[in-house]
Amino acid sequence: MKLLVTAGPTREPIDPVRFLTNRSSGKMGYAIARSAIQHGYEVVLISGPVSILPPHKAEVIHVTTAEDMLHAVQGRVSWCDVLVMAAAVADWRPQHYSPHKIKKLNMPTTLQLEPIPDIIRSVLPNKGKRLFVGFAAETENLQSAARQKLLDKKLDLIVANNVKEADSGFEVDTNRVTLISSDGKCEELALMSKNDVADRIIQWVDGNYSGTKLHRHKGVGG
Ligand code: CTP
Repeated sequence: MKLLVTAGPTREPIDPVRFLTNRSSGKMGYAIARSAIQHGYEVVLISGPVSILPPHKAEVIHVTTAEDMLHAVQGRVSWCDVLVMAAAVADWRPQHYSPHKIKKLNMPTTLQLEPIPDIIRSVLPNKGKRLFVGFAAETENLQSAARQKLLDKKLDLIVANNVKEADSGFEVDTNRVTLISSDGKCEELALMSKNDVADRIIQWVDGNYSGTKLHRHKGVGG
């Protein structure tokens, strides 16, 4: 099985010294890469800027902006059986980039922003039998907001992630998630380490992948 996973934040530059970003540490996506390798998957990890080490056996593609990540995912999606979008991709970027540092006195009081294309949506035409897994980072109406994203982005599984609690979501080593799948199943997991959450996601993938490899396997076994 081949798993493509994105992790970490993206950075949207304003000038050579300033950028817009978010609190993602990359820990959840890196844990998924590690768990997948332990389960015998080939893994390509597309990572925004983080300060943690990737698992040895993963091929790592480093990106900075959401647009870099978009191109990296588009370039590798046809290789994979499973895409897991664990990255916290920026939704907006500054409309204008200043190639020189904007001096304090010239800094505009408002920043003009433009929307960033949604990466998962952009690769939907390539989905075929691939499993697509997304995350929903929410601070309120966790399950209903996540279900809406599952439908809107035509995902197979969404990991509804409570990012409001101190022990769950960004930066910390633990997470509190609910796994909601397109067949309507909903599994609320207890607070656990991000490594354990990653194992549960990979177990879900193992149980739900029905692409060519498993068919071939079934065929060989009669
Ligand atoms: N995502 C993506 N491309 C983007 C933004 C998000 O592929 N430009 C993916 C994320 O990696 C995640 C899922 O979409 O798997 C949901 O991301 P999230 O930030 O929770 O939601 P948004 O779609 O950005 O919506 P909102 O900010 O309104 O919650």
